[in-house]
Amino acid sequence: MTKTFYVTTPIYYVNDVPHIGHAYTTVAADVIARYKRLRGFDVHFLTGTDEHGMKVEKSAAEAMISPIELANSVVERYKKLWPLLNISNTDFIRTTEGRHKTAVDRIWSDVKKKGDIYLGHYEDWYCTPCETFLTELQLVDGKCPECLREVEKLTEESYFFKLSEFGDSLIEYIEKNPGFIEPASREREITNFIKTGLRDLSVSRTTFSWGIPVPDDPKHVIYVWFDALTNYLASVGYPNDDLKFKKYWPADLHIIGKDILRFHTVYWPAFLESAELPKPKKVFAHGWWTVDGAKMSKSTGNVVDPVAIAEEYGTDQFRFFLFREVPFGADGDFSIEALKSRINSELANDLGNLLSRSVSMIIKYRDGVVPDYVEASIGELENELLNSFSALSSSIDKLFAHLNYYDVLNEIWLRVREMNAYVGNCEPWKETDDDKLSTVLHLLAAGLKVLSVYINPFMPTASEKLRVQLGLSPSLEGKDFDDEISFLGTVNGLKVTKGDPLFPKVD
Ligand code: MSP
Repeated sequence: MTKTFYVTTPIYYVNDVPHIGHAYTTVAADVIARYKRLRGFDVHFLTGTDEHGMKVEKSAAEAMISPIELANSVVERYKKLWPLLNISNTDFIRTTEGRHKTAVDRIWSDVKKKGDIYLGHYEDWYCTPCETFLTELQLVDGKCPECLREVEKLTEESYFFKLSEFGDSLIEYIEKNPGFIEPASREREITNFIKTGLRDLSVSRTTFSWGIPVPDDPKHVIYVWFDALTNYLASVGYPNDDLKFKKYWPADLHIIGKDILRFHTVYWPAFLESAELPKPKKVFAHGWWTVDGAKMSKSTGNVVDPVAIAEEYGTDQFRFFLFREVPFGADGDFSIEALKSRINSELANDLGNLLSRSVSMIIKYRDGVVPDYVEASIGELENELLNSFSALSSSIDKLFAHLNYYDVLNEIWLRVREMNAYVGNCEPWKETDDDKLSTVLHLLAAGLKVLSVYINPFMPTASEKLRVQLGLSPSLEGKDFDDEISFLGTVNGLKVTKGDPLFPKVD
């Protein structure tokens, strides 16, 4: 049976246009989706849009359009952005779709039947931009601790979810499943939060109407987070397509930003437990980008538009930068200077030059055909390179298991540099021994072939271009992973061609 892998991004609010933060989460999910496909998994990769709630209703009113018109126009932008960033999602869900509403109705009804939803009264502070309820204690100078904006006092009839009863079982789940919350610092944060005691959660509102009505009590709409989280179930056929649901659920991985950790690691598993559904296997929270050292905001006008960056500097270059610049999980700073410097030094100089000099030498010394190696010419330098490459596969797999993209790229670039150093040490242009020269050229082609596989999840187009120059079939789809990363003796006879620089330099 094929192994499956189900990965999700958060679904994005439609009251904002896509920026680097949204691109970050989605490219991150794309990287692991592509890696898992290379490793033979049947991958379901979901992204989409979160379209209900007071925030969207307000934004639409300000723009003097209906909420669905606002949603439709922002969805268009996402649907243009994802192909531009080479995102390989297999589903795009909108919370205004029928299949989503069916799923929300069902989970609500199941949780209600279970006795975990009751009608009460709600009085508290609410931050509309963050769609978050806050206690008096959480306020900072009377304002929202997250966005520092004004909060509103709300008293209304509301349904509550008995979150307070789930603390112990959540702690137990976290303890029994190391790696459920990553990075580890986030796990501690959530464990501490749960241990301070959970309050029941208001899960319906009566003060606005843009949402999914509570079954049997339509003057209430379902709280936007209860609604939104359910998208992860709806996409895989819940509640009507049992076969599909069993195939993909529980999700292997929810990738999210650190700001929405609590929703995914406290509320979500509690809702699922109440509905007697399995909990996701992993939630990974990444950090936030600042821009030139400052918080990104519409009012400062420093919002980074991923469309503009990808068009000007290249999709692969942008994707590479996101994971090369900052460890995934930590906060980072975006600047055009840093992007250019990564492109020029590590893409153009290190990898691009390695390819172009290797191809040039194979053309010059062997008429463009990769020669076989000669066993007797394998010396100390060759063995070092071979050993280094043979350790790569298992170390990269372990790093991917924890979404340690930063170290994956480190491992890859270590090999790129080793190969460049190898060329420098061997000086093939001075080599008079024909066997030795063949062996060197063979090793360069083989190493580049392996590198084309490992860079593929990050830079799918560059991987294909590299393979074309090496005379390999561009796509890795359907290829056997182990064959593709095997080294010696697998590139004989390939006909290389000189192409455009893989990564043009930028000023
Ligand atoms: N709609 C909710 C998610 C519901 S999931 C069931 C939501 N949407 S959002 O559009 O506001 O944010 C989506 C993602 O973008 C979050 O993971 C958030 O962390 C990420 N980012 C928003 N700004 C960011 C940065 N400046 N840097 C990195 N990521 C950031 O939350």
